[in-house]
Amino acid sequence: MKCVKVPLKQLNDVRIKLMENDMMNMEYKIKASGDFGYIPINEDTDDYEIVDVELEPMKKVPHNFSELLKNELTDEEIENLRTSFDTVGDIVILEIPEELQDKKQIIGDAALKFTKRKSIYMKKSAIKGTTRVRDLEFLSGKDDSVTIHREHGARLKLDVREVYFSPRLATERKRVMESVTDGERILDMFCGIGPFPIVIARNKDVDITAVDINESAIRYLDENIKLNKLKGNIQTCLGDIRQVSSEFNSKFDRIIMNLPGLAYTFLDVAVNLIEDGGIINYYEFSDSYEQGIKRLKSAANEAGKEVEIINCRKVKSTSPGEWHVAIDGKII
Ligand SMILES: C[S@@+](CC[C@H](N)C(=O)[O-])C[C@H]1O[C@@H](n2cnc3c(N)ncnc32)[C@H](O)[C@@H]1O
Repeated sequence: MKCVKVPLKQLNDVRIKLMENDMMNMEYKIKASGDFGYIPINEDTDDYEIVDVELEPMKKVPHNFSELLKNELTDEEIENLRTSFDTVGDIVILEIPEELQDKKQIIGDAALKFTKRKSIYMKKSAIKGTTRVRDLEFLSGKDDSVTIHREHGARLKLDVREVYFSPRLATERKRVMESVTDGERILDMFCGIGPFPIVIARNKDVDITAVDINESAIRYLDENIKLNKLKGNIQTCLGDIRQVSSEFNSKFDRIIMNLPGLAYTFLDVAVNLIEDGGIINYYEFSDSYEQGIKRLKSAANEAGKEVEIINCRKVKSTSPGEWHVAIDGKII
């Protein structure tokens, strides 16, 4: 069985990362031997050492999702059904392929039974528009799209119909939080309901300005500030970052730019707002890091500055060959 080999103390972090990227093979058990752990995978990765190890298969769960559906759908239909759900608090969001649309109710009811969550919704569109929200269709359970998602001890309240939120960025948020030092002044240019600010301010004594153009996202972030015990301070700001940034009267030590489709069009704003030596956590969709590095460099050069690239990583896979990539650049 093809496995990723990792030192035992990294086992849990790597397991979560592989699961978030749909790369873990859930049919086999993880094995620990000596100082190493072996995690089964279903596709190759350059990010870890890959070895061939014999693993014990998972015991067949009598009520797994496939078995709940086996009398309703053919094996091929079950095979085609994407069973990797997004779970946000007590809500499950499913992607049901076109050819299974006539079975969506059966699938939704099975998902409700299998997950024991409150509500099942189906993706009705891609993520779209300025606010990066997708249309959802209610399928099963209770039609209530408000929930509280727990992430790294943070409580994040949101309405899945009104705001952007991805549970698959949890590892990335933890990674950014761990790189922050107390005392930083941080700007989150596209904060949504505030997962970056809340996770950071729960752990670090920082001053964060959090901006979003979606009124509902800022309303939930204001609630989330009250729902969590924070070490740091978060100030929310509703509006278009390009406009509201002209009112800021000081610069920032760190700027977070998680609007991967369009962040590059705001790099000029970020470069003007960053302190010398400050870090830009920049994100984009790409098949490589080169394009993002080039964009960061050219925005810095336009402002008479340079970039030192601190770190590049793949956050999650978006489509075959394309990734949500993160590039951390120090502006000097
Ligand atoms: C991909 S979401 C990321 C949200 C959040 N950072 C997260 O990780 O969950 C991008 C966010 O940017 C906001 N947005 C889009 N254009 C904006 C702009 N010009 N100024 C401020 N916010 C904007 C959207 O409303 C959306 O909430």
